[in-house]
Amino acid sequence: MSVFRNAGHLFRLAAVFVVGTVAFLVIRAAVVPRSFGEYGHYRGAAISEIASLPLHFAGHQTCETCHTDIAKMKSAGMHAHVNCEACHGPLEKHVKDPSIDPGKPDAAVLCVRCHAASAARPKWFPQVDPAQHSGGIACTTCHNPHNPVIAAGGSK
Ligand code: HEC
Ligand code: HEC
Ligand code: HEC
Ligand code: HEC
Repeated sequence: MSVFRNAGHLFRLAAVFVVGTVAFLVIRAAVVPRSFGEYGHYRGAAISEIASLPLHFAGHQTCETCHTDIAKMKSAGMHAHVNCEACHGPLEKHVKDPSIDPGKPDAAVLCVRCHAASAARPKWFPQVDPAQHSGGIACTTCHNPHNPVIAAGGSK
């Protein structure tokens, strides 16, 4: 066949493609995790791996089943929508075993984390210059953390 007389380079090119494709499939089979693509463009096994990680946060509904008095006080005040663990930190361990004392948050660092005046905060958000506002007195002397607005005569 005269058309294939000088076709050696075509077969070499085809061979390069075949070898390349085989190498791609072998490497792909070796490096792509088995469960990849099971549900979508990710490792299917990642879901059960993440679900089996230990919990750290219990969620405020859980706290409220035992600490009903505090939940009630909090829901009536300006901190109604600040979750327990936003201030107390992750307390799943305490929920599992209430005899583990979670301690109390240190108001000296806690309150200013959200309320220290900063240009970066939205203007509507209540903020104070801590030194000027409290004169070095602990915030909880005047504000109850679970209902911080000071009513006549104080909220404590
Ligand atoms: C199964 C019931 C239960 C659950 C759920 C629970 N607690 Fe407690 N908690 C207790 C008991 C009992 C104590 C120890 C007695 C006490 O001080 O009331 C305690 C103590 C505390 C203390 C320390 C009180 C102190 O005087 O030092 C804090 C703070 C606290 N809990 C916060 C939380 C938060 C936040 C949550 C939710 C993540 C939570 N608790 C969930 C039962 C519970
Ligand atoms: C805005 C921050 C904040 C939030 C939100 C908050 N706490 Fe507290 N909580 C504190 C601080 C600060 C103290 C320590 C007060 C002190 O030193 O007297 C405290 C103390 C406590 C105590 C010890 C007893 C007491 O009355 O002093 C318990 C129990 C408690 N909190 C449970 C809860 C639970 C349950 C929730 C959610 C329903 C919650 N807290 C939400 C800041 C907070
Ligand atoms: C996780 C962030 C956070 C922490 C920590 C926190 N607060 Fe608040 N605070 C809020 C939010 C959110 C509001 C409600 C703002 C609103 O809805 O206008 C609020 C409202 C208040 C108000 C009412 C302001 C007003 O407009 O009258 C006071 C007072 C206050 N907090 C004091 C405290 C004190 C004292 C502490 C420490 C015990 C504290 N806060 C810790 C988030 C926080
Ligand atoms: C000596 C008592 C006292 C202490 C200590 C104190 N406050 Fe207050 N705070 C008040 C009073 C009274 C008001 C209400 C004033 C008003 O209505 O404007 C107030 C109001 C606030 C407000 C609302 C401001 C606004 O713009 O509406 C925030 C936020 C606040 N305090 C946070 C704190 C923080 C954080 C600390 C600790 C660094 C603290 N306070 C310590 C007495 C105190």
